[in-house]
Parts: sequence; structure tokens; C-alpha cells
Amino acid sequence: MTPPRFITFEGIDGSGKSTQARRLHAALAARGVPCVLTREPGGSPGADEIRRLVLEGDPDRWSAETEILLFTAARRDHLERLIAPSLASGKTVICDRFADSTRMYQGLSRGNLRAKVDALHALMIGREPDLTFLIDMDPATGLARAKARQGHEERFEDFGLDLQTAMRDGFLNLAREFSDRFVVIDGARPEDAVAADILSHLPADPA
Ligand code: ADP
Ligand code: TYD
Repeated sequence: MTPPRFITFEGIDGSGKSTQARRLHAALAARGVPCVLTREPGGSPGADEIRRLVLEGDPDRWSAETEILLFTAARRDHLERLIAPSLASGKTVICDRFADSTRMYQGLSRGNLRAKVDALHALMIGREPDLTFLIDMDPATGLARAKARQGHEERFEDFGLDLQTAMRDGFLNLAREFSDRFVVIDGARPEDAVAADILSHLPADPA
């Protein structure tokens, strides 16, 4: 089994992606695997600036089309400055959200813009993860967890339960579409159980 080098976590808000990405990073580092933990939107200084533009403020601040451009611009910077150089130097990259989130949030939430997302992705990113963990979770539980965190990055959480439900269904469809790289993980279990399940999908000696 060739160890996957570029691993992403996807799922609705509050599903436990950040928690599990952190735990996987710690588990691989403990095995001596050179490993980088990052996230989107953000992951590089320029992309972090764009993160503030897209996650703060009024829910109607940007159209879905403008968001596709902003998220893809952030991703391009992240790819150029962190992801590609890390992979080239032999490191494993663990990323909390990537292009599948744009396929869902910008591609599905306000009309069907998936073809535009995919076209821009092909033109400007052109890279898919080797392995994607979809942390699947009941939308109401995910929303309650996300809201309990509190913060100012709530543009998308403001869209509410309907959006969470549509995104959950959309992610499950995406997992079927890209079944070669997606693994669906039941996120409604204690953190340790979820972490052990995730680790079981990686080779025991991924160095
Ligand atoms: P995401 O990155 O998908 O939005 P987080 O990892 O930030 O999710 O988790 C959202 C909240 O739920 C956090 O407060 C976290 O501590 C909590 N949480 C994460 N995993 C679990 C779990 N398996 N069971 C219960 N609570 C969890
Ligand atoms: P994130 O910080 O991962 O939030 P959470 O931990 O609550 O899941 O992502 C913030 C929001 O950004 C999230 O609601 C999804 C949204 N998003 C998009 O709409 N498109 C994208 O391409 C990405 C990467 C995120």
C-alpha cells in the first residue's frame, strides 16, 4: 500500500474535522512521519487574509460566483506556498477542507454552480487529494457543536440547518462520485473511536 501523502478532511461545520485532523497529525508525527497540518480557507499568509474576507460579515456579502473566485484564489496561494513545496520535500500534508468544500458550499448552496467550480479548479488548482476523510454527521448535531464554539467567523453557520442538511447530502454524493479517494467516517461517536477508525485506513508503517 503506497502511503497517501495529501490527506484532506471534509464534512459539515461541527462534524469534528479540525479535531480529527489534529489527532491524525499527532499520530503520524509520533510514528516519525514528516507531516504538515493545515486548513482552508487559509494555510498561508495571503490565504489567511482572504479567509477574513469570506468568513466575516453579512451572509449576503458575496455572491456565490465571487466566492468561487475568492476561495480558489486562497487555495492557489496555499498550494503554491505550502502544499506543493511540502509534498515535494516528501512530507505528508493533512488539510482541514480543500476543493471538495468549494464544490459543495459554492457549487450547491445557491443554485447549481458545480460546473464553474470544476472549470476554475481544473484551470488554477489541478490537484486532488490522495485520500479524503468525510466525517459524516447528523446536521442538527453538527450545527449545535459549531454554534457552541462561538466566534466571529459565522457567515456560513448563519445559513442554518437547511444548508447543513443540503451540504451533508451533497458530501455523501461527492463521496460516491470520487469513491477512489473518499472514506466516509461516522462522526457521531466519541473522539477516540473516530480517531482509531481514521487511523485504520492508513498503512501501519506509512513512513
Ligand atoms: P469542525 O472542524 O468539523 O467544524 P471541530 O473539530 O471544530 O469540528 O469540532 C466541533 C466541536 O465539537 C468542538 O467543540 C469539538 O471539541 C467537539 N467535538 C469534536 N469531535 C467530537 C466528538 N467525536 N464527540 C463530541 N464532540 C466532539
Ligand atoms: P471552517 O473553518 O473549516 O469551519 P468549520 O470548522 O466550522 O467547519 O470553514 C469555514 C467555512 O468556510 C465553512 O462554513 C465552510 C466554508 N467554506 C466554503 O464555503 N468554501 C470553501 O471552499 C471552504 C474551504 C470553506
